[in-house]
Amino acid sequence: MDPRGWPCLICSCLFWSVHGMVPEPQNVRLHSVMFDTFLQWDPPNFHKGSMTYTVQYKVYGNGFTDLCQRTDVTKCNISNIPIHGSYIVRVRTEVEEERSNWVNITFTPFSDTIIEPPAVQAEATTPGVLIVQITDPLVSRDGGKYSIKHFYGHGFVTYKMRIWKKDYDGEQVRYVNITQSSKTLPDLDPGTTYCLQAQAFIVELNKNGDWSNALCITTTDNGINTVQLTIILLSVLALLPFICFMILHVYRWAKYIFLPSYYLPQHFIEFLSKPFYSSQFLASQSQGEEQAYDKIIVLSEESKSDNESEEQMRNAKQLLQGSHEEILRPKEVSDFTPLVHS
Ligand SMILES: *[C@@H]1O[C@H](CO)[C@@H](O)[C@H](O)[C@H]1NC(C)=O
Repeated sequence: MDPRGWPCLICSCLFWSVHGMVPEPQNVRLHSVMFDTFLQWDPPNFHKGSMTYTVQYKVYGNGFTDLCQRTDVTKCNISNIPIHGSYIVRVRTEVEEERSNWVNITFTPFSDTIIEPPAVQAEATTPGVLIVQITDPLVSRDGGKYSIKHFYGHGFVTYKMRIWKKDYDGEQVRYVNITQSSKTLPDLDPGTTYCLQAQAFIVELNKNGDWSNALCITTTDNGINTVQLTIILLSVLALLPFICFMILHVYRWAKYIFLPSYYLPQHFIEFLSKPFYSSQFLASQSQGEEQAYDKIIVLSEESKSDNESEEQMRNAKQLLQGSHEEILRPKEVSDFTPLVHS
């Protein structure tokens, strides 16, 4: 024990022995939530033997009724007190047959009980609009659960809601009164996160309930917001070279497949498509006869323009001339052979 407590102890001892009194419970207080109520206290500083406590209540003008009798814990469930009206609740200490004075406290359940927050749900339907749903807090009583409206009266319970933009510290908080279980909050900014809290408000008693936890919800957007737009633009820019490359590649491939740049002149196609000439040609080949022939070099029209292909053209012409000579030579030889022999 704290040495400074000794004089106190001696005083209490003297006081108790002289007056025969047990010290009263200390720090008597009520704890009431949704009409579920406890009276609580601290044990007195001095005690001799085992202490017990008795709690009673009374309606003004009536006698006292016991709530807890000779209990050894420092709290008493006093929820059995009727909720309508105002009461005196009292507690005392008992040590064997000795009793302390009563400590009185007044209790008016309707105004003293703490009202729990309502359940809040919100839905973002159209841009800049939130639909809020409020569910009444419930009171457990006599084995059932009842809305607080059942006790305070349907017309007397409303809700206060506060709304603020989540990411704007300087933004003012808006307050809205809600009388129905559902409320539409129009005129909000689209694509913005709002936080909501609600509390019950008992108009008649000017009594507030506890605030609900903040519920944050983002309103829907009327299109694409600036952040999304920026992300889309940046990704398109980043992919642009690749997309161009792919388009070019596909175009070249398609052109190669469907529009070949090399083709035979029309009269050649006609010539080859006639079976007579082609079979004659084949027949003459099979006989092993030496035939005069022309070399065909096909050039793409596309490459006519650049210098490189002009050079190719020149080379091709030279080649053509050279081959003419080559082709002519065997003819000459064949013409002259009989002359030489003869
Ligand atoms: C207090 O008493 C009431 C009524 O008898 C009962 O409904 C409630 O559950 C009790 N509370 C606790 C925490 O035991």
